[in-house]
Amino acid sequence: MKNLMVTGGAGFIGSNFIRYVLDKAGFQGRIINVDKLTYAGNPESLADIAAKYGKRYVFVHADICDRAAMDKVFSEQEIDAVAHFAAESHVDRSILGPSEFIQTNIVGTFTLLEAARAAWKERQDVRFHHVSTDEVYGSLGDTGLFHEDTPYDPRSPYSASKASSDHLVMAYLHTYGLPVTLSNCSNNYGPYHFPEKLIPLMILNMQDGKPLPVYGDGRNVRDWLYVEDHASGIWAVMTKGKTGEKYNIGGESEKTNLEVVNTLCGEMAAATGKDKDFYKKLITYVKDRPGHDRRYAIDCSKIKRELGWKQSVSFEQGIRATIEWYLSHAKWVEGVKSGAYKTWIDKNYSER
Ligand code: NAD
Ligand code: DAU
Repeated sequence: MKNLMVTGGAGFIGSNFIRYVLDKAGFQGRIINVDKLTYAGNPESLADIAAKYGKRYVFVHADICDRAAMDKVFSEQEIDAVAHFAAESHVDRSILGPSEFIQTNIVGTFTLLEAARAAWKERQDVRFHHVSTDEVYGSLGDTGLFHEDTPYDPRSPYSASKASSDHLVMAYLHTYGLPVTLSNCSNNYGPYHFPEKLIPLMILNMQDGKPLPVYGDGRNVRDWLYVEDHASGIWAVMTKGKTGEKYNIGGESEKTNLEVVNTLCGEMAAATGKDKDFYKKLITYVKDRPGHDRRYAIDCSKIKRELGWKQSVSFEQGIRATIEWYLSHAKWVEGVKSGAYKTWIDKNYSER
C-alpha cells in the first residue's frame, strides 16, 4: 500500500485516522485526503499534519459523488487503497432532511465504487475499506449484542443510508471481485469531534453555562469507543483483515446517556475547579428524538481474536483526555462555534 486515499479525512474520525496512520502506525506511503468540506469538514484539524508531512499528505477538495473528480484522483494519485469515511453522519440532521444522506452515503459510495472498479480492473493487490456503523443493526432490548451476522434493521434515514452503502460494497465484492473489507463501529468520541454530537455538545455547553439537552428519559444506551482505538481497528482490518470480511469494532463500554452526562459533569468539575452540581443543574430533559434507538452494544470478539486488536483507552481515561483537549484547543472550538455549527443550532434548536 503506497498511496492511500482517505475520503472524509477532514471530519472527526477521518482526521484522527490520518493522524494515527502517519504518526503511530508506521505507514511510509502517501495519504490523499479527498473531502468536500461540508459543515463537518475542517482543514484546521489537520493543519499540523499538512505542515509535518509535506508531500506525503495531499488534500483534494472534491465531492465523492463527482465521478470525473474521483477518476482523476485514482489515476493522478495512483491510488492502491481506499479508506472510505466520507458521509453525512448525524442522525438528527438525517431526520430533519434526509436528502444529503441519500446523495453522499448511497450515491457517493456507489460513485466511489465505480471509480475504484474502473481504475483497478483486475488488480487484486488493492483494498477498498468501507467505514460503517453499528446503527445498521437496529436497536437492542435490555440484553444481547450485535454480531457480524446480525440481520440489518436500520431505523433512521442515516442508518438506512449507511446500510444501503454496506450492501453496495458487498455487492461489488460478489459481483465484480472488488477487494473490499467493511467495519461496523459503535459510538466514537475524542478530539476534533463536531459539537452537534452528544459528548462535545455537552462539553461546550458546560463551558458556556448553557442547558445540557438530554433526549427523552436519558436511559438510551450507547457503546463508547475512544476515536484512536477506532483508527487502530480500521488499520488492523486494512492491513491484516481478510478480503470480503466484515468486522465489528466496539468499546465494550455501555453507558446510558445520563451516565455519560454525569461523568462529564464530574470530570469537568475536576478540570475547572467548579462544583459538580454547577454542571448537573444544567441538565435539561428535552423532547425525544423520533424513532430513538434504545440500545446499541457490539460484540467485537472477531477482530480481537483474528487480528489481535483491542481497545487501549478506558471510558474514564478517554473522557478526561477529551475534556482536556477541548479546554486546551480554544481556537479550534471558536472556529467551529462561529461557523456552520452555530448557524445550524440557531436554526434548528432555538428552543434550547
Ligand atoms: P463527520 O461528519 O465528522 O465527517 C464527515 C466528513 O465527510 C467531513 O469531513 C465532510 O466534509 C466529508 N464529506 C461529507 N460529504 C462528502 C462528500 N459528498 N464528498 C466528500 N466528502 C464529504 O463524520 P465522522 O463522525 O467522522 O464519521 C466518519 C465515518 O464513520 C462515517 O462514514 C460514519 O458513518 C462512520 N461512523 C461514525 C461513527 C461515530 O461515532 N461518529 C461511528 C461508526 C461509524
Ligand atoms: O453508533 C454509531 C453512531 O454513533 C454513528 O454511526 C453516528 O455517525 C454517530 O453520530 C453516533 O450516532 P448517535 O445518534 O448514537 O450519536 P449522538 O451523539 O447524536 O447521540 C448519542 C446519544 O445521545 C443518543 O442516544 C441521542 C442522545 N443525545 C444526543 C444529542 C445530540 C441527547 O440526549 N442529547 C443531544 O443533544
